[in-house]
Amino acid sequence: MQYTDIVLDHFKNPRNQGELKDADGVGEVGNPVCGDMMKIYIKVGKDEQGQAVIEDIKFQTLGCGAAIAASSMLTEVAKGLTLDKAQKITREDIVEKLGGLPKEKIHCSVLAQEGLKKAIAQYKGETFTESKDTDDAKHAHC
Ligand code: FES
Repeated sequence: MQYTDIVLDHFKNPRNQGELKDADGVGEVGNPVCGDMMKIYIKVGKDEQGQAVIEDIKFQTLGCGAAIAASSMLTEVAKGLTLDKAQKITREDIVEKLGGLPKEKIHCSVLAQEGLKKAIAQYKGETFTESKDTDDAKHAHC
């Protein structure tokens, strides 16, 4: 499967790439198999109902094109969402928004999603447990 135009666009023009110096939560996850690394930064604010929302989000990744595209798309989807909704973003959501990813690149989207969950957990003071998806991803062949 070839990369979709959406994937290529996000790879060439990544959204929200960089570091958030005053982040309220940071999630870093890595893939020891291919050495890719994902870091998600979030700034948390309040919406009109007083619910915690992702006011700003940025990512840094040392990874492949799919990892960059998935992180970029994740930040676009998550920005403005309540933390509860952002925690429910699945890898399928990201892959679907990208118009699909080659099967062997699915684990790249898993890292982005897990990075966000870890950042939210850090903000909430919760213990982050890697999902089985991430564990599978670590054993995926890059
Ligand atoms: S995360 Fe391993 S190749 Fe993309």
